[in-house]
Amino acid sequence: MRNFNEENLTDAVLAKLAGATNPRFKQIMTSLLHHMHDFVREVELTEEEWFAGIQFLTATGQKCDDKRQEFILLSDTLGVSMLVDTINHHQPAGTTESTVLGPFYVEGMPELPNGSVLGKELLGDPTLFSGQVLTATGQPLANAKVDMWQADAEGFYDVQLPDPNVVRLRGQFRTDAQGKFWFWTVRPVSYPVPTDGPVGQMLLQMGRHPYRPAHIHAIVSAPGFETVTTHVFANGDRYLDSDAVFGVKDSLVVDFIRHDPGQAPDGMQMNRPYFTVNYHFGLKAAD
Ligand code: BEZ
Ligand code: FE
Repeated sequence: MRNFNEENLTDAVLAKLAGATNPRFKQIMTSLLHHMHDFVREVELTEEEWFAGIQFLTATGQKCDDKRQEFILLSDTLGVSMLVDTINHHQPAGTTESTVLGPFYVEGMPELPNGSVLGKELLGDPTLFSGQVLTATGQPLANAKVDMWQADAEGFYDVQLPDPNVVRLRGQFRTDAQGKFWFWTVRPVSYPVPTDGPVGQMLLQMGRHPYRPAHIHAIVSAPGFETVTTHVFANGDRYLDSDAVFGVKDSLVVDFIRHDPGQAPDGMQMNRPYFTVNYHFGLKAAD
């Protein structure tokens, strides 16, 4: 066939899927092609605009390396990551809601004993993070794993620092017989997602700020239960209602409570003000 036009081109391209053997692939490509062609027709895309789009996607790919994933950032800032998350995780009562993984997770961090002090040498407010891992019905889960990571008090993850060998403010903890875990860290602050690439330019053009509200990331897992990837957000943060990646859920917002110097709940003697935060993670039994 030849002489394609606005009316018949979409069907001609869709017909090229006739030989696709994977039904799910075929379903996804069919829908994607429909939406892409409809979009081009609807906005009457000019050749300059089409090429600007190609250049944007090229720059997005060129910004990616083993430390930087600009496509994930694009997906996050356009709400696609949270849409995928929402569609795939329907949490029953008593279980912790999930949110975006983000680009700064590093697998295989060392297991640290409960009570460890992370970032002792760093600026920021000392914070005791304690919690419990429970089943949906509130039974404590011993030996569950809490894999956590966060930015420092200036808003930077270790992987964003010039020295690639620095590992800080991340680690894995195991729950005790009561399902409890605890560690000291620094109080997280709100920080901007990376803006030195094409996604930063896009946010600027959209008239959006790049900030995420203060949070601590956690991946919580236990044998026989579904792993949850989530955050604990600091209540009161000014960006809770305008997170650049749409990741905030009420159930994940927690008070970071300020204390005067003295003995902390884990027995640590603190000679300066400190914060405590306590959170119970509920895990859903695996099917
Ligand atoms: C983060 O919280 O680490 C993050 C999530 C999405 C995009 C950028 C950063
Ligand atoms: Fe983060």
